[in-house]
Amino acid sequence: MAQHGLSDRVAIISMGCTRFAEHFDCSADELAVDAVTDALDGTGLTRDDIDAYWLGTYISGISGMALARPLRLAGKPVTRVENMCATGSEALRAAVYAVACGAVDVAMAVGVEKLKDTGYAGLISPKIQDDGTRVNTSAPANFSLLAPAYQKRYGVTPEMFRAAMTHVAWKNHANGALNPRAQFRREVSKESIERSPAVAGQLGVMDCSGVADGAAAAIVTRAEDAHKYTGMPLYIKALSLVTGDGSEALSLVTGDGSGAADPSYDYTSFPEVVECARRAYEQAGITDPRKQLALAEVHDCFTPTEIVLMEDLGFAERGRAWRDILDGVYDRDGELPVNPDGGLKSFGHPVGASGLRMIYECWLQLRGQAGARQLATAHRRLALTQNLGGAPGDCVCFVCVVGTKRG
Ligand code: COA
Repeated sequence: MAQHGLSDRVAIISMGCTRFAEHFDCSADELAVDAVTDALDGTGLTRDDIDAYWLGTYISGISGMALARPLRLAGKPVTRVENMCATGSEALRAAVYAVACGAVDVAMAVGVEKLKDTGYAGLISPKIQDDGTRVNTSAPANFSLLAPAYQKRYGVTPEMFRAAMTHVAWKNHANGALNPRAQFRREVSKESIERSPAVAGQLGVMDCSGVADGAAAAIVTRAEDAHKYTGMPLYIKALSLVTGDGSEALSLVTGDGSGAADPSYDYTSFPEVVECARRAYEQAGITDPRKQLALAEVHDCFTPTEIVLMEDLGFAERGRAWRDILDGVYDRDGELPVNPDGGLKSFGHPVGASGLRMIYECWLQLRGQAGARQLATAHRRLALTQNLGGAPGDCVCFVCVVGTKRG
């Protein structure tokens, strides 16, 4: 048994992305149509030329019909996928696999979510019938546990850790202020981040990602066909997914998702991320991500999450990410820019769309089309996206690496 990489066999030939916002004036259908139309624009392809579609949506529709209907896709295979916060990325993964195995020539991944009309402040979770023993805590409460755990393990004072959390929020909002597609487009001062109302533990409102509506889409073909459609495709270098199972004895090496129930789990790492990144780097031939990547779009659902991710993804040494963050290593002009589009912090998190929105920033940056956000590191030609669903100790993690150079 083995997982074989698909490096350089499939290319993204076009992408589309709506603005992420409170879209009270349009439906999930309209958002999906906008993202798909944006992706088709300039390719010479029509909806009918796409052989198969995958729709990623968490709660904004069921079955492939949620996409087939608004797009009027008569007689096409259209499949809905869901895998928590990795939902949009799963749509891409499925489309890439379909092309890689030769089942289809051209496939499209679409991610869409409409959350703001629910009237609920936080992220809605579907009610699943289970044995009733599952702890029902909010996402901010779950992720807030990272902060005191990290401080204790690495002897970081609450003040220094607070400064690092603040820097993450400040950086991502500063990046988002330059992004016309972001939900929140204002820089936020460090003082107002630290003064924001408490939500859970040490987290205030400004330590949380927002809630938003949005959609994004990607068209993929075989790598050898890509230049028919664009002079600058993005090649898929790695696709990696690790899903915690939440039941068996914890192995911090394999990340089986039982952390929350295991007394040895200390909330300073996501084992699923460590394993997922390891596999992605192996597929992409990456040995030093901090130096080789032009940018990383990571799942900054809460500010301490981004701090821990810097270590789990191998960008920082254990216990050092908070210091790197304060030193500006992950700023837009830093050694490895992280979330240059503004991240979940500026975009909010319309679950089905977020993974593809991250890829969209890689698409723009590596092709030199990011305007005011254009990174000096783009010459490195490799970019990473990462999603994290669930809660610490019980996660789904997805990592993708894309690049502009084949081979
Ligand atoms: N970051 C920055 N600004 C935010 C924000 C956030 N997370 N949430 C809200 N705002 C701003 C809004 O733009 C609004 O500003 P305005 O008054 O200038 O228009 C103001 O704060 C109030 O917005 P509102 O929508 O009323 O906020 P809320 O109180 O309903 O929701 C949270 C705030 C933190 C509860 C909500 O954003 C949340 O639950 N976030 C976490 C989502 C989550 O769990 N995701 C899962 C990740 S795994």
